[in-house]
Amino acid sequence: MTQSPGQGNALDNLLTESRTFPPSDEFAAQANAQPALYEEAKADREAFWAKQAERLHWDTKWDQVLDWSDAPFAKWFVGGKLNVAYNCVDRHVESGHGDQVAIHWEGEPGDSRAITYAELQREVSKAANALTSLGIGAEDRVAIYMPMVPEAIFAMLACARVGAMHSVVFGGFSAEALRTRIEDSSCRLVITTDGQYRRGNPAPLKPAVDEAVAGAPSVEKVIVVKRTDTEVAWTDKDVWWHELVDSQSDQHTPQAFDSEHPLFILYTSGTTGKPKGILHTSGGYLTQASYTHNYVFDLKPDTDVYWCTADIGWVTGHSYIVYGPLSNRVTQVVYEGTPNTPNEGRHWDIVQKYGVSIYYTAPTLIRTFMKWGADIPAKYDLSSLRVLGSVGEPINPEAWIWYRENVGGGKAPIVDTWWQTETGAIMISPLPGVVSTKPGSAQRPLPGIGAKVVNDEGVEVEHGGGGYLVLDEPWPSMLRGIWGDEERYKDTYWSRFGEQGFYFAGDGAKYDADGDIWLLGRVDDVMNVSGHRISTTEVESALVSHPTVAEAAVVGASDETTGQGIVAFVILRGGAGADAGGADAIKALRDHVAKEIGPIAKPRQIMVVPELPKTRSGKIMRRLLRDVAENRTVGDVTTLADSSVMDLISAGLQSGKSED
Ligand code: WTA
Repeated sequence: MTQSPGQGNALDNLLTESRTFPPSDEFAAQANAQPALYEEAKADREAFWAKQAERLHWDTKWDQVLDWSDAPFAKWFVGGKLNVAYNCVDRHVESGHGDQVAIHWEGEPGDSRAITYAELQREVSKAANALTSLGIGAEDRVAIYMPMVPEAIFAMLACARVGAMHSVVFGGFSAEALRTRIEDSSCRLVITTDGQYRRGNPAPLKPAVDEAVAGAPSVEKVIVVKRTDTEVAWTDKDVWWHELVDSQSDQHTPQAFDSEHPLFILYTSGTTGKPKGILHTSGGYLTQASYTHNYVFDLKPDTDVYWCTADIGWVTGHSYIVYGPLSNRVTQVVYEGTPNTPNEGRHWDIVQKYGVSIYYTAPTLIRTFMKWGADIPAKYDLSSLRVLGSVGEPINPEAWIWYRENVGGGKAPIVDTWWQTETGAIMISPLPGVVSTKPGSAQRPLPGIGAKVVNDEGVEVEHGGGGYLVLDEPWPSMLRGIWGDEERYKDTYWSRFGEQGFYFAGDGAKYDADGDIWLLGRVDDVMNVSGHRISTTEVESALVSHPTVAEAAVVGASDETTGQGIVAFVILRGGAGADAGGADAIKALRDHVAKEIGPIAKPRQIMVVPELPKTRSGKIMRRLLRDVAENRTVGDVTTLADSSVMDLISAGLQSGKSED
């Protein structure tokens, strides 16, 4: 949990990165965002958001922009009515864009499908009629447990269309994880596939659903999409998508729902074992998803080809594959598989094939690409790329620069977007064309958003100081609570700075001398070494800036003399050479960190490992590394993407361990 308060700065601000990259005049001139946007939002925040809400089609206009009288439970666009799916699909057909491709779907084995807005409208209508035929309607919960196939998007939009709430559960989660999520929100229906392609091979998916549903009595029906043609066991709850959905009429009249009508639940892990069902509603969520997607990615719906590499199992897939982009009439790529199938150039092959112009991915993947080598993207024509995005964790400056040089051709602006499942949409990010970007910094709150870095007392820190990130104004796409647990909602997010009324994001952050925000990782990842608070991210960043290091994870391990000692786990780059893991090389790495940050940040111990333990969404599980660093038995590994990683690490320690 959070550490005890220090004097003054809550986090020592050690690493300095001073490069900046102003936008080209050419980009700035054509950008959707212009500097005046900040002024406009500042002048009248609610009027600003009301204007953004006009991006959508409302069946009934709201009569109040924000009702915050029941804080921390917000109501946005009070009295307004809209249909979210209509906004993402039908209105584009009605405005004459039925023939525009909405989704260029690329299957892992190489099959593909182009889906126009007209076709999307028919598919979503059929699926909505199918839901109605099963008696699924307003506020029913539907679990979606699927790989990245088009039907997953049809299913989400069909739920939105009939007012049912979807709860998408990542297809890599276990049967038990699925069961607890189904149970927590009493889902009546599950939508799944027979199997999914993973690293070139079909893997079964439905058996996990069978197991989960056996222990979840709320489920009445299971709709199964045939994807891999794997043989599956069949129960009397099961029905094939192609039999049920394809026999429905492709006409469906959407009904308008209240702006605060619930849209979805998405589970995210917290500090306790029980996942939190984050609740989002309709009008405010769609407004901010649409607004941010337009300005942060500079989307030009007539010419851009957009690709967000996230999975719909995460919030990024919800807001930046489904709701934001489709509400903006995007043409986008959706890719089913892994980035190294059939080879490590797959993403660049897809960029070249479709002429992708906007590419949004995660730092962990960028570092993987670095590990694979710059010669791989160099083999492809990536000249169509004009905006690059990053999300999910702080991006270390080395990875940022690598991304800019090797993917963005040294000129595409990079937007480092900070937000959370809870915030629903992007909150902090440079606006491309307006802000000079800085490698590693998410920089400033978007127009209309209030964010600050404060100390333990909730007082804003000075430029150059570190502390906690808070959001000091309600925002349209904010969570409306945790499903079934009002108290946990208040406790988790609103009690830490309750007096000030700030939302506590749980992230450490600092201001640089210009007042730009740098995210420093979760506050529970902050180490305390000899009374100095040091972010794990800063040490990782320093390690990765060494030419032999591909990836690094740092934990604070308890230490008799210093409180915590810094223990680093590093993966070496492919071409690092045979000696890179030797004692001298490890000493050089420690010295490198001392040089980059200061002797205080010098790792006590560096271990060379072949892999790092990551969750399925790519977050490093520091808890497990802390177990290794503190010589404990390694704890629960069930949320790891690959549970054999911990064995590999233990094995690697035999050869790579170094202490001095
Ligand atoms: C982290 C993902 C630094 C942060 C959209 C946050 C980031 C958590 C960034 C939310 C970023 C996300 N820079 N850190 N650009 N983006 N994070 O709910 O710790 O999966 O609190 O949402 O990821 O993760 P979540």
